Amino acid sequence: VNHLLGIKYLKESDIQLIFETADHFKEVLNRSIKKVPSLRDITIANIFFENSTRTRLSFELAEKRLSADVVNFSAGQSSVKKGETLIDTVNNILSMKVDMVVMRHPNPGAGIFLSNHVKSAIVNAGDGAHEHPTQALLDSYSIRERLGDVSGKNVLIVGDILHSRVALSNIFALKLQGAHVKVCGPKTLMPKYIESLGVTVEPNLRKALNWCDVANMLRIQNERLDISYFPTTREYTQQYGVNKALLDSLDKEIVIMHPGPINRGVEITSDVADSKQSIILDQVENGVAIRMAVIYLLASKIK
Ligand code: CP
Repeated sequence: VNHLLGIKYLKESDIQLIFETADHFKEVLNRSIKKVPSLRDITIANIFFENSTRTRLSFELAEKRLSADVVNFSAGQSSVKKGETLIDTVNNILSMKVDMVVMRHPNPGAGIFLSNHVKSAIVNAGDGAHEHPTQALLDSYSIRERLGDVSGKNVLIVGDILHSRVALSNIFALKLQGAHVKVCGPKTLMPKYIESLGVTVEPNLRKALNWCDVANMLRIQNERLDISYFPTTREYTQQYGVNKALLDSLDKEIVIMHPGPINRGVEITSDVADSKQSIILDQVENGVAIRMAVIYLLASKIK
């Protein structure tokens, strides 16, 4: 069975195939065709053990627009609360003739673990601080859409790199496509191994912004944070927050990205998030076409 567990397991040609497939679905959606019959005989379970707005809704929309049958599972309202294990939970769902599982889980490696224990295609919708592959795919797709190509572009990732699955998946995806990647953020939120991934650390935000074509502004992952690591929110915003005055004072016009949810006034101000330089809502829109492409390509291997 084939899975999407992380960008780490993909080749550059896999990413290009996903993008070409997403181009097709985006073109269909732009013609106001809300549904294609591709996956009429496929049933997908979205199982979420962590909160989500964008990922959960866009997976469900992507599945419905492919005409798949969809069931949704929230751990908080399930028998997980009575002590049922992850493997038992998923095997019970699969016994109801479910073909594919999309899972978000707080534990790094949860998708890999599950793929070793159940007979189903697994799509990782975010596993702790490990990977968020569909986010990285939609991020690169959005850069490609705005700037024509990802290869050769200077991409800056700002913020809590240590706890961010978005950062790790983006680094893998961007490097695979030939982008240059720098990271900027507090030393306490920077993994020690970061340079071994082929990225450069630039501690000075202004220098980093003047270098980049695209800045991907991350949220502080408060839910994964040991408070002793953290500068205060005010200190963080002073050193690593982007406001309109800073953006306008740069040598060139850069593209602003954010995976969401935004903490407005912390990592970016509203006048940056809502500016013409921001492609934040394009990222969300592209999430549906990218997830349609991922599910369609995986389903074609199990049909
Ligand atoms: N970007 C992202 O994963 O957002 P959600 O947590 O709302 O799904």
